[in-house]
Amino acid sequence: MWSAPLAAGGLLLLGCLGSATEAYWPYTSFKTGPWEPPKLQLNKTGGIDPGLFFIPIRNENSLGSAVTIYDNDGEMVYQGPEEKSMNFRVQKLFDQDVITFWSGEVEIVGGYGYGKVHILDTTYREIYTITLTDNWNSKFVTATGKSHDSYIDVHEHQITDRNTILVSAINVTQQDLSSFDGPSDAWITASQFYEIDIATNEIIFAWKSLDHQDKIPLSESRQPMLIHSVQDNPWDLYHLNSIAATNDGYLISMRFYWAVFYLNKDGSVRWRLSGDIDEGDITGEEMRFSWQHDARVYNETEQNLILSLFNNANRQSQSDSASTGMVFNLDLTTMSGSLLYNISDPTDAIYSRTQGNLQFINESATTTSNMIIGYGNTPKFKEYNSKGEVVLSGQFGAPTHAMSYRVFKHNWKATPFWDPAALIENGIIYMSWNGATEYDNWAIYSLPSIDSNETTLLSTHARTGFETNMSIPDAGSDPIKFIKVASRREETILRFSDAIEVF
Ligand SMILES: *[C@@H]1O[C@H](CO)[C@@H](O)[C@H](O)[C@H]1NC(C)=O
Ligand SMILES: *[C@@H]1O[C@H](CO)[C@@H](O)[C@H](O)[C@H]1NC(C)=O
Ligand SMILES: *[C@@H]1O[C@H](CO)[C@@H](O)[C@H](O)[C@H]1NC(C)=O
Ligand SMILES: *[C@@H]1O[C@H](CO)[C@@H](O)[C@H](O)[C@H]1NC(C)=O
Ligand SMILES: *[C@@H]1O[C@H](CO)[C@@H](O)[C@H](O)[C@H]1NC(C)=O
Ligand SMILES: *[C@@H]1O[C@H](CO)[C@@H](O)[C@H](O)[C@H]1NC(C)=O
Ligand SMILES: *[C@@H]1O[C@H](CO)[C@@H](O)[C@H](O)[C@H]1NC(C)=O
Repeated sequence: MWSAPLAAGGLLLLGCLGSATEAYWPYTSFKTGPWEPPKLQLNKTGGIDPGLFFIPIRNENSLGSAVTIYDNDGEMVYQGPEEKSMNFRVQKLFDQDVITFWSGEVEIVGGYGYGKVHILDTTYREIYTITLTDNWNSKFVTATGKSHDSYIDVHEHQITDRNTILVSAINVTQQDLSSFDGPSDAWITASQFYEIDIATNEIIFAWKSLDHQDKIPLSESRQPMLIHSVQDNPWDLYHLNSIAATNDGYLISMRFYWAVFYLNKDGSVRWRLSGDIDEGDITGEEMRFSWQHDARVYNETEQNLILSLFNNANRQSQSDSASTGMVFNLDLTTMSGSLLYNISDPTDAIYSRTQGNLQFINESATTTSNMIIGYGNTPKFKEYNSKGEVVLSGQFGAPTHAMSYRVFKHNWKATPFWDPAALIENGIIYMSWNGATEYDNWAIYSLPSIDSNETTLLSTHARTGFETNMSIPDAGSDPIKFIKVASRREETILRFSDAIEVF
């Protein structure tokens, strides 16, 4: 079933391949379409929040990788086309819920990618496609020398409340490292980010790590310097992996500095929160984290803010301690911090070497909301309550054979622009409507010819999961020639399928 890993190294390191038996994970298939989602195993141990799980699964089943939505019972709700995708989630754009995800090409070395961000409305129509091309007379240079039609990296795309989007990017470039005993012609992976206006796809702000060496010196990277760095194996020293808009600028996470930086609107560094308590601008005994992902800000005022992150505590080459979700309270007047949460499941220590995230399901209720932790290269996620107790554990693949960059839970309501699918086999009607969240039952109609509008209601059937099946209803003496099904919410018809012939 599985072949070579999708990618190795950096973000996508898959670890050692096990035997074929170890890689086995059950899949579900359907009559009404080609979807083949891995079974989602869910263990519930407490009160879970309503919502749907958004998982851009990357794995090695026959279908490959696809963005997938599951419900709280582990039933699939939606699966998108096969492609490598990351950061599949719901965000607000112009005050409306939209789905966003990245798709593109993933580079083996470094785990970066080159792609586009897709923004879909609640009918799954793609309303914007965000791209990043050579700009302001700057051309992007890649490790392979290959050029791409868009250079948005896999790590981040975050919509701001000013309807712009923050995206990460990298440029492979040469740098003189002789001032700290490195080669004078080293190749490095330089992190950048861009703020792009969504309506026009215009860049309105660009930030390049190399312009800020005063506050982010190359010599302070935790990633050992590659003395023999070359273009196709550059020293990946920053690894910028999250960007958030703040009241006064931006908050970025740099995995390979064990640090989160607060940037002013002009991009200059205001302060650094370091996971090593001997470094950075914020003091606090409990402020320890390493190789982190997904730094977010909540409840920001001039004096105070809440900062959350996923503390990997492990890197590609080494497992140190269990990964945790951390939430800090930062007092900006005294520049000191304290730990509000350090969340993990004591019965299931997970060592996430790459990727991962921490989400407050309700972002405006950081003291009462349940939280989701996605474990990155370990194909698991967990929901925790506001006491930090596990209320749900989920798994969607065999260890080291599936992963998801981030996992989210959202209250997503969608009515697709496509029609429901229906099919008859051996006297059974199968019905589904990929992505639809608003119907709860099916109505089955007979019609005298394929294009007739003269429908006669035969029967109804409650929705059972993704695909509902039932025997063809008995229509009395007249044999049924054609059937149409309608998805309904109570007695309101939402949409008809095409008519199908009954053989
Ligand atoms: C990438 O690096 C090259 C070489 O240093 C430089 O000429 C180019 O402007 C950079 N591109 C971007 C997008 O920063
Ligand atoms: C957070 O929890 C992890 C896992 O239990 C533990 O190893 C680590 O020491 C804790 N960190 C802090 C700062 O308490
Ligand atoms: C999220 O929390 C806020 C503040 O407690 C509350 O007003 C709101 O109703 C919550 N939203 C949902 C969807 O539960
Ligand atoms: C953040 O603010 C919300 C209301 O705006 C409040 O309910 C919550 O307790 C605050 N979070 C923290 C961690 O103080
Ligand atoms: C669910 O529980 C079973 C039985 O204890 C266990 O084998 C499995 O690993 C658990 N799955 C998850 C996702 O925690
Ligand atoms: C059925 O209804 C559609 C849409 O109202 C209409 O375009 C079509 O002509 C009708 N077909 C028949 C056979 O009446
Ligand atoms: C028909 O649906 C039931 C659930 O209602 C399910 O248990 C059964 O496996 C389905 N049959 C087929 C052939 O899909």
